[in-house]
Amino acid sequence: MSLIDRLGLSVPIIQAPMAGVSTPRMAAAVSDAGALGSIAVGNVDADAAARMMAETRALTDRPFNVNLFVHAEPRRDPAREATWLEALTPRFAAVGAAPPSRLGVIYRSFADDDAMLACLLADAPVVVSFHFGLPDAARIRALKGAGCLLLAGATSLDEALACKAAGVDAVIAQGWEAGGHRGMFDPDAEDDRLGMASLTRLLVARAGLPVIASGGIMDGRGVRVALDMGAVAVQMGTAFVACPESAADEAYRATLAGDAAFHTVMTRAISGRPARGLTNRFTEWGATTAAVPPDYPVAYEAGKALNAAARTAGETGFGAHWAGQGAPLARPLPAPSPPPTWSPR
Ligand SMILES: Cc1cc2nc3c(=O)[nH]c(=O)nc-3n(C[C@H](O)[C@H](O)[C@H](O)COP(=O)(O)O)c2cc1C
Repeated sequence: MSLIDRLGLSVPIIQAPMAGVSTPRMAAAVSDAGALGSIAVGNVDADAAARMMAETRALTDRPFNVNLFVHAEPRRDPAREATWLEALTPRFAAVGAAPPSRLGVIYRSFADDDAMLACLLADAPVVVSFHFGLPDAARIRALKGAGCLLLAGATSLDEALACKAAGVDAVIAQGWEAGGHRGMFDPDAEDDRLGMASLTRLLVARAGLPVIASGGIMDGRGVRVALDMGAVAVQMGTAFVACPESAADEAYRATLAGDAAFHTVMTRAISGRPARGLTNRFTEWGATTAAVPPDYPVAYEAGKALNAAARTAGETGFGAHWAGQGAPLARPLPAPSPPPTWSPR
């Protein structure tokens, strides 16, 4: 049985999990419309994840996806962290603030989060997806034993083959144009920067798994093209950021609707990992500094602190305004709107 049939989808679209942007309300609206809604719990602890799953379940009887971050343990390097904070100090000073004196690990990886595993096994969502890597065999066995269908992101054939070897059910081919964090397992590895089309075709030919195309798909024609390339579904993020069900704030929405949408950039300066977002004062500064950010998510604590301080001073140009290259095509429609040019075969 195909993945789409197993999930009972009438529309082959997965609304991307977007930590801090997607919401239970968005996931439920998308799932109710026949696609697959997602909630992202990579940035919260197990208790908050349980609440988000309960909230989503209260809004829909349909399947939804719960997404986890499986990043490697950050290497702590006090000298690098101090240099980074020093480099950021003038940016903080410009908004009348000082950087934090120390940084920490703000997001726990699912790789060693037993409380999160227990919470998922108790709730057994129909779909669980992984970003930044794969958990160990025992966790995968446990989730499959609970009946969860497993998806994982890949930016290369090697990562896709690792997904297959681990027993994942389908792979999300994340192209270079995609908004948000690049899911590469090792952010310091060589990156061939394959676009959605090349990566999707490569994985369809060689990965031995159903492929979900992702990156730059903004409307029904994009969906159609991805399916014609052999993908079984698409995962779309940027297209949902401006929806009323999104948690994006006014500044983010305004930036997405403006000129910056034409100039997205991949930056490590905000979080310590490559991520694509709308150009703003933070990404511009990141392109000029010689300082090297600490590993993800350590650098993200500094990035979030700078954004919070700047906002207090009325400056919104330091937000993590993630968006992909298709950003100018984003429309502020309700999440369940059918793509205008979509028609099933
Ligand atoms: C605002 C935003 C936040 C994202 N957060 C996550 C996340 O928490 N987990 C995840 O697996 N992918 C996340 N992504 C990446 C998406 O899964 C997907 O790869 C990307 O949105 C596809 O490209 P597109 O934005 O051009 O549609 C995020 C993307 C955006 C735009």
